[in-house]
Amino acid sequence: MIKAIRGFNDILPDEIKFWEYIIDTSKKVFKSFGYKEIIIPILEKTDLFLRTIGEATDIVEKEMYTFSDKKGNSITLRPEATAGIIRAYLEHNLYTKETITKLYLIGPMFRYERPQKGRYRQFYQIDAEVLGEERPLVDAEILVMVRQLLNNIGIDDVQIEINSLGCKKCRGLYIKKLISFLEGRKDELCSDCRRRLNINPLRILDCKVEGCRKVIQEAPIILDYLCNECSNHFSDLKTYLGQLELPFIVNPLMVRGLDYYTRTTFEVTTKKLGSQNAVVAGGRYDNLIKELGGPDIPAIGFAMGIERLVLLLKEKGFKPYITPLIFVASLGEDAKKEAINLVKNLREASFSVEMDYSLKSLKAQLKRADKLNAKYVLIIGEDELANEEIIIRDMEKANQEKIKKDYILNYLKEKNL
Ligand code: HAM
Repeated sequence: MIKAIRGFNDILPDEIKFWEYIIDTSKKVFKSFGYKEIIIPILEKTDLFLRTIGEATDIVEKEMYTFSDKKGNSITLRPEATAGIIRAYLEHNLYTKETITKLYLIGPMFRYERPQKGRYRQFYQIDAEVLGEERPLVDAEILVMVRQLLNNIGIDDVQIEINSLGCKKCRGLYIKKLISFLEGRKDELCSDCRRRLNINPLRILDCKVEGCRKVIQEAPIILDYLCNECSNHFSDLKTYLGQLELPFIVNPLMVRGLDYYTRTTFEVTTKKLGSQNAVVAGGRYDNLIKELGGPDIPAIGFAMGIERLVLLLKEKGFKPYITPLIFVASLGEDAKKEAINLVKNLREASFSVEMDYSLKSLKAQLKRADKLNAKYVLIIGEDELANEEIIIRDMEKANQEKIKKDYILNYLKEKNL
């Protein structure tokens, strides 16, 4: 039997309840913060990711699904959403239509990582980007929105971590300091970090190997090297977060796995997911739009992994809301004819309705209704047919009453299902 590809998951109907809930809740929050949805292709030209994410990152070095199409063009399944959103933003000149553009995207991303709990090769992100504003008030607003998204979804046991990676100027200076410090401790670093030292030294700060962690604890931190502008930007952000009563911690070792970030970066972490501890992650990328050939437009954004949110909700024992189901049971050919029309009318009135297609015994029909978790069963037998009545059975309370056929719609409407 053919099975799914490793790291690629089927999301079955029971699980979809969680997904729908997360997506619906997020869309409502996005709306209240003025975001609009964008849908872009899953495949992009490989160059787009090389030029945005950075050639010396894990994503580009090892994790991209890159193929040649029939004409030999190199194309890649998107490993993240930001690059494609900017490509679309520039291609359609969205910046000429409004000075600040707030977009969100929900969809699958692909990374050839080692699959484990909370880490898959096809996974889904809810991604949001604000293009066109560099002031730290926007950074604060984004973090408030992230908090509200998680609160509204029902995830509260998390920590917001922030950092600043400075601008090209001050980060360059810091990287020089960092390299010279790490050169002196090179023997204590793992082989991966020794290799990274010359190509992407910031990533060393993220290494989980014990020996490296010891060295990193003593390394210079970027926050001590920020230029005045970057330092003010970061301290203004912290002031706003204080005013907005948003708890956070500063983690000067947070560097993120993509190269495009400048100034503010952030992650929302949890202790509940083992090593895949980031639920939400993002930051500012003020140079990226220009580097891709666009105007000098600052931007900031984040993405959260839907699978990780689902794991957290399940861990909490959360039960997603399910639209109550009405089951229509009938006894005998004539009653069944009546039932068919009743089902049609109820569905037209937007109730969620199932019926029995065969002519099974009432017992068998009630058994199926129970299996489907029906809240009410409407029963039409020969007597009811003759008296223009319907029996309505409350499955939870296990009681039933008879009502006139003509009142059934109003009766159910009053139940507010
Ligand atoms: P990222 O940190 O690579 O950032 O991913 C963001 C989130 O996607 C993670 O915190 C996690 O919840 C989820 N995620 C990432 N990889 C996987 C995986 N293999 N399996 C399951 N979930 C995963 C970005 O992608 C940036 N584009 C975020 C951003 C938007 N920055 C600015 N704008």
